[in-house]
Amino acid sequence: MKDQLLLAIDTSADDTCAAVTKGRRVLSNVRYSQIHLHSAFGGIFPTVAKRAHELKIPGIVERALKRASVGWKDIDGIAVTYGPGLAPALTVSHRYVSEMSSIHSIPTIPVNHMAGHLYSVFAQNKVGNPFREITFPFIAVLISGGHTEFILARGYDDLTIVGRTLDDAAGEALDKAARMLVGAGYPGGPVMETLARSGDPKKFPFPKAMTQRTDLDVSFSGLKTAMVNALARLSEAEKILQVHDIAAGFQESVFGLVERKLVKIIEVYDPKMLVIAGGVSANKALRKKMRALGTKHGIPVRFPTTKALEGDNAAMIGVAAYFMQGSLPLLKPGTMIDRVPRGRIDEKYSF
Ligand code: KG4
Ligand code: ZN
Repeated sequence: MKDQLLLAIDTSADDTCAAVTKGRRVLSNVRYSQIHLHSAFGGIFPTVAKRAHELKIPGIVERALKRASVGWKDIDGIAVTYGPGLAPALTVSHRYVSEMSSIHSIPTIPVNHMAGHLYSVFAQNKVGNPFREITFPFIAVLISGGHTEFILARGYDDLTIVGRTLDDAAGEALDKAARMLVGAGYPGGPVMETLARSGDPKKFPFPKAMTQRTDLDVSFSGLKTAMVNALARLSEAEKILQVHDIAAGFQESVFGLVERKLVKIIEVYDPKMLVIAGGVSANKALRKKMRALGTKHGIPVRFPTTKALEGDNAAMIGVAAYFMQGSLPLLKPGTMIDRVPRGRIDEKYSF
């Protein structure tokens, strides 16, 4: 595989991200987080996100180039997220890339955001650490605020969704629960993790979701309803006294469901490796569960190696472009790519 120097950009949600990568090595990875702008809304507010991306993107890209000690003339290609993501937010980077690729005569590589999360676990630092062997087939659990998907990878470009959420994403379920429980703003996942740490998940059990279903999909809307109903039955004082146990019980049922489905998926596909990525992969309780599952089945479990690679970032887009170079199109400088807000990891799109 060719180790080209790529400028990577992602504006799919609430982070303005740019990075420089060479092969799977990350030379710089810059992110401007808009969390403070959206926190009060309990989710991402599209027009606010668009405006903030427009303001920030030129500076963030220049910073990424500077931190990598490279200039535009050194860049072989610009890897940019085509989707999935918020349509108005995606358009900002597409316009910017169209203009800059034309000025500097650099081809553009459209990359799927979820493929970015998937390959984030194989990213290396500047000097090539860590080196992680990639063995196919593997299963990736992509678990974030917008997605919960189980992917079967049979080759670098051979990615198939074998299970997914039918409604809310796991991160979204945690965000909503945190809002209901303690009025937490976005993102609520880390708040749930902190509360749950000193709680007992058995004291306030939530129903075991989807025990009857034999397919490989998950659903979290039932758990959300269970939370609404449970809270309605409690007085304010009871809520305060039990808040840690409620958080622990809810978190346990979200991750328990992911685990049960993953057990089935392992039985069906016999993977040689597990990859856990996306914003929720930061959660220690989830990591513990996934590690135990890997140990039980005798397969390695890979998580993103740094905090910067856990949530949304652009380094993962550059690294995915490297691994998927055999199948990704190379668009001529100046192309305004078509955004695909609901783009799937296992579909091919024309740009
Ligand atoms: O991948 P990400 O940064 O953005 C996308 O959704 O694409 O994921 C954000 C999600 C949010 O739902 C957030 O609450 C959740 O990841 N999250 C966590 C933790 N850190 C972030 N959920 C549980 N525990 C955490 N420590
Ligand atoms: Zn993401």
